[in-house]
Order: sequence, then structure tokens, then C-alpha cells
Amino acid sequence: MCRWSGGPQPAKAEEPLDVIGRGYSQSVTMDSPASRIDELRESIRYHNERYHGLDAPEIPDVEYDLLVRELEALEAAHPELVTPDSPTQQVGAAPSATFAPVEHTVPMMSLDNAFDRSELDGWAARLVKGLDLDGEDDQGDGATIPAVGYVCELKIDGVACSLRYEDGVLVQAATRGNGRVGEDITANVRGISVIPNELGQAAPAVIEVRGEIYLPVSTFSALNDAQEAAGLPRYANPRNTAAGSLRQKDPSVTAGRGLAFWSYQLGVVEGGPSLPGHGDALDWLDELGFPVNPERRRVERIDEVVAFTDHWLEHRHDLDYEIDGAVVKVDSLVRQESLGATSKAPRWAIAYKFPPEERATQLIDINVSIGRTGKATPFAVLEPVFVGGSTVQMATLHNDDQVRLKDVHPGDTVIVRKAGDVIPEVLGPVLSERPKRLRRWSFPHSCPACGSGLVRPEGEAHTFCVNPVCPAQRQARIEHFTSRGAMDIEGMGESRVALFLARGFISDVGDLYDIAWSEVGELEGFGQTSIDNLRGAIEASKQRPLANLLVGLGIRHLGPSGAEALSKAFGHLDAISAATGEAMAAVDGVGPKIAVSVADFFATEEAATLIEKFRAAGVNLDGPEAVDVPQVLAGKTVVVSGTLNGFSRDGAADAIKSRGGKNPGSVSKKTTALVVGTEPGASKLSKAEELGVPMLDEAGFVKLLDTGELPE
Ligand code: IVH
Repeated sequence: MCRWSGGPQPAKAEEPLDVIGRGYSQSVTMDSPASRIDELRESIRYHNERYHGLDAPEIPDVEYDLLVRELEALEAAHPELVTPDSPTQQVGAAPSATFAPVEHTVPMMSLDNAFDRSELDGWAARLVKGLDLDGEDDQGDGATIPAVGYVCELKIDGVACSLRYEDGVLVQAATRGNGRVGEDITANVRGISVIPNELGQAAPAVIEVRGEIYLPVSTFSALNDAQEAAGLPRYANPRNTAAGSLRQKDPSVTAGRGLAFWSYQLGVVEGGPSLPGHGDALDWLDELGFPVNPERRRVERIDEVVAFTDHWLEHRHDLDYEIDGAVVKVDSLVRQESLGATSKAPRWAIAYKFPPEERATQLIDINVSIGRTGKATPFAVLEPVFVGGSTVQMATLHNDDQVRLKDVHPGDTVIVRKAGDVIPEVLGPVLSERPKRLRRWSFPHSCPACGSGLVRPEGEAHTFCVNPVCPAQRQARIEHFTSRGAMDIEGMGESRVALFLARGFISDVGDLYDIAWSEVGELEGFGQTSIDNLRGAIEASKQRPLANLLVGLGIRHLGPSGAEALSKAFGHLDAISAATGEAMAAVDGVGPKIAVSVADFFATEEAATLIEKFRAAGVNLDGPEAVDVPQVLAGKTVVVSGTLNGFSRDGAADAIKSRGGKNPGSVSKKTTALVVGTEPGASKLSKAEELGVPMLDEAGFVKLLDTGELPE
């Protein structure tokens, strides 16, 4: 996962620096529009879930928007391939199981996006056509698009929420969810002080107010200061922190976070005044006591809209909340009504998205960090600069070739780009500002941590410190072990690992389970509570699944899915450590490169020592219960499309694979059968028909899993 909040990033240089996620690539080889459409849909669903469901986006909004754009363009060119389950026809992510579902009386729609002036003009031109204003006088000021009358608002980067009041009392608060069904967060919202629990005498019988819950930037900074003081990890950005704060099971935690709210839209209203415009509706909300953003503006023409967006592009950081663009709405409610909506978004509104932020700053120096496998990664040490929602003072430069390619020299003014949560990037130097006779940077010959020689193997892009006892590698290995995707030991971050190593409390990851706590208690800053918390977190980590332990060992090439496959196939760490490379390579999902690397790792004395330390401490070494499933699908290929009642997408794939079958994402002439659930993908259906691949319903699938036979 890519969270990059301006902290000590380069020490983590060997964590996946590619922000790829699934399908985040514009340069794919396209075998057919249908398969690219399938691929884009899968990728967009994945990123929707990360953003809306897990509050942990992997790619910047702009990149996500590009995926959606590409899908929209393909669907427009091939309308026969549009399906109701396509993300272009839906909004957000399905609600989670933690909070009760709430069905929205009026769906909470999404917004279409414009990324530049011409797209904004395109939208305005469509409005003019839709409203039949073509013949209207352009008022003689040279503008080509007739006036429509807009309300310009800021696009708040927070979490959409709907508030329902009956007889002036807040009765329900819900998230947007997938637009039709959201989550009931009433108890948590009651603790947000700026949201009224009761409205005054002027309240209508029913009013539903929609808006954005957000965390003010100042509150976010204070929260992070407190986290840092407690030795806890910093939060990545205000938006995700707001979403996480809202999803707390304990409402008092939400209440203590200082969340705020801006109202921007009316939902259901019964018994309210009749209002001619959206601007009037906002004024009314203000009168009723709702927080309404004062930075809204009623304008006539699209040039004035552009003046508004230009202004806020420049001044966005003058605000105490984050915005990622502007929202422009047709003011007249009659006109809104006549323009209507697509299945996903109203035609009368558009989100104008700001481009990723870029800032110039000074490149103070280029340093090299050593990762857990010894990889030496050059990184830019920057004059701190606030860009894309956080302060950036370091940015990876990846490797020697990249430094040359970017042509950056210490002392240069450089352009830094950052979008949303994503890793900041040094784009290049501002050559016009390069001081005379600036010296080119060259890769150091020795490791900055241990002084031994750095080696760049022939044909490789990276350079390595090959000293196995290098202290920087040791530190990075332990940090990796404690990280979220591995043993997830909260409170054991970079500074504590460094401290414990320096004090000799630990020297490898196995020692984490045998710390002399009485000695830790003598250190400054370690009260009983922080010791109890840290001990508790270490104790809890003993129960992590075997796959997490394998990931935590930081074996080269072994990622979470390979670790999962090994733990399932062998069932115990001892069996994995005793397995040959060939045996491991035979496991589905484990390639020869991974197998060799894992076998090499377990052949070392260091691995044997670690396993014994884990065993002595009672760390879980067991894999998931191995079930002896008959391999009835060996040699068969089964593709699944659409939703099944009794299987999740992954569950169906597991059921096929655990019986020896293959489960690719598309139909080919090798496909044994296509399982068709509700709302299947049109491309898979037509391909199966074309190739004469048998199609099964869910009952047929269950029979196939049982017997390996296709039903008659
Ligand atoms: S209006 C039908 N106004 O942006 C129109 N949305 O990308 C409903 N947002 O889901 C939305 N600031 O969460 C509107 N001033 C604003 C907004 C705003 C932020 C969010 C909202 C929406 C998302 C669409």
C-alpha cells in the first residue's frame, strides 16, 4: 500500500514503490475491446473498494479517473458491451457489514468530471443544447456560450453523508455506500458538534441534507502530533482519517476526533418552502442552522465559473479543509429537473477536478538509503514543501539511471509532484534556475550505514550493499516484520526499532518476542501504559496467519499471494522450511524464482535460528487447515462470470483451484465451462457462445465441483 506522508520514507525503499495496484496501467496490450473492458471493470471495482470500502486508496484520483474515462470511451464505442453491473453504471462501493444498511429514498448520485477548460465548456454546451438555449443572446460580450446561471461550490475532500430530520430531530445519518444503500452511522454522527441534533421552529416535517464530513487540516495536524508523541504512526491524510474516524465502533472515539461538516445538497424534503434555485436551498440550509460553506458563488456564465476555479486552484491551501476541485451546479431547480440525470450522475452538475499539484523546491542533496535486502536507493532531500495535502521533504529517485535521466543535481531547484495519497515524485530540474558550475551527483561507492562496498550487478538497475550484517538492513528487516502487511505490531515503528537495536534489546525479528521489559521500563518516555500497549501488540502478533509471518521474513520475491499459496499448500512453517525448491515451484501461484529464493532463505543458519525463536515464543507456525479435496477438476478450466449466491468471487476461484482446476478471467477455446451468475459480463457470454463453451448455472457449478462432470 502506498501511504507517503512525508515521514522517513526512503528507509522503506524496498517496499513496493510502484503504485501499481491492480490494472493501473494505461499501456496495456489490448487483445480486444471486450477483454480490455473486463480488465478495466475489474480494476475500477478493486480501486472503488480500496477508496470507499477500506479508506485506503492505492492510486491518485487522476489515475482512477483515467481508468473510468477509458472504460467510458470503450463502452461508448461498443454500446452492445455495456452491462448494468459496469462501474460506469454504478456509484461507490457496497456497504460493509459493520454498520446496518440504509436504503436511500433518493439515490446518492456521483458527479461527472471535467479536467480542463475545454471539458467544462463541453459540459456547458451540452446544458445549452439540453435546455434549448441555443438561440439566446450572448449579451454582446463576445462569449460564445449563453448564460445558464450556476452555483459554484468547493469540492470538499471528505466523506459524503446524508442526514435525515423528522419534525426537526436528527433521526438518521448514512454514508453514500453504493449510492442506493449506505451505512447507518447515526450514533457516530450525533457526536459531531457542528451537525445540529435538533432544528428550530422553522424545521419542515422531513428534511434530508447531504454534505461532506471532513477533518479540518489543523485538527488533522494536531492529531498527528499526538500520534507522533505517543510513538504511533502518523495518519496519511485528512480524508482517510475522517473516513476511519467515522467508521469507529465506539461513537465516543468519533466524537473526540473533531470532525466537521459542510452541507451542499437537499435530498427528500416534505413541508419546506418552495425554492427557485439551488443557491436559495443553500441559503435556507444556512438559516436552519446547518454549516454551509461560505465560499460559494452564484454566477451567470461559464467564464465566471472559470474565474472561480482558477482562484481556488491558487488559494486551495488558504483553507482549513482539503478540496480537490470545484462543483458547478445549474442554479435553477426547474432547469435541473428538465436536464435530469444519467444512471450515475445528474446532468446539471459537474465536478471540476484540480490537476495533481506541483511545486518548486530546493534539492538540498541526494542521499542513499539501504533497504532490507541491501538495495541502495537514492533519494532526494528536499527543502520541505507542502504539496498534494502533505509536507514533502524526501522523494525517492529509484536508482542511478533515474537520477541521470531526470538530470537533477544537488543545489537545483526541482519540481515536485504529488497527487492525493501517492508517493511524491521529483519531475526534474528548473534549468533556468540552475546555478553555474553545479556538480553532477555520483552514486557512492560505499554503504552509508556500514561502509562496505556497494555493488551494481551486471545487467541490474539497482545497486546493493552486500554486507549481511549491515545495521541499516537489519533495521529495515525488523521494520518490515512489524509492518501492517506482515505481523502488524502497532507502536513498533522506525524510531523504536532503532532504539531497541541500539540498546541491544533486539538484534533480529525473533528477539521481539523475548524483550527484557524491565530494562525498557528504565528508558525515558516509556511509561507503564506504553509498555503495556507495545507488549500487547507484540503478544497479539503471535496469532497472525502463517502467510503474514512468511511475508514478515522479507524473503526476496515472496509477496503476500505466494506466501498464502505456500502456507496453504504446506500447512506449517517446518514443512515449508524443509521443502525443496522443486516442491515449492509445483504449488500454484509460486513461480521458480520465488521457490529458489525461499529455499535459499530456509537453507541459512539465520532462518533456522529465527524459527526456533518463534517456536519458543509460541508464534503461530501453522497454516490454514489443510483439507484433502479430491482433484476432480485437474486439467479443467472453469471461468465464472456474474454474481453467484453461494460463492464470493474469490470463494468460487478457491473452490475451482483447490480441486486442481484453473480459473482464468476470460473465456477461450480451452475453457471447459463458463459458470453464469446474475448480471454476467456480456463479453464472456458472447465468447462462450461463439466457441461453443458449455454454460452452467450455479446448481450446475456445484455439481461440477462435486463430481468434476458437466451436468447433462
Ligand atoms: S453535489 C448529485 N457538492 O463529490 C450531486 N458533491 O465526486 C451530489 N462532494 O459524492 C453531490 N463537495 O461526496 C456535491 N460541493 C459539493 C461537493 C460534493 C464534495 C463530493 C460528494 C460526491 C462526490 C462526487
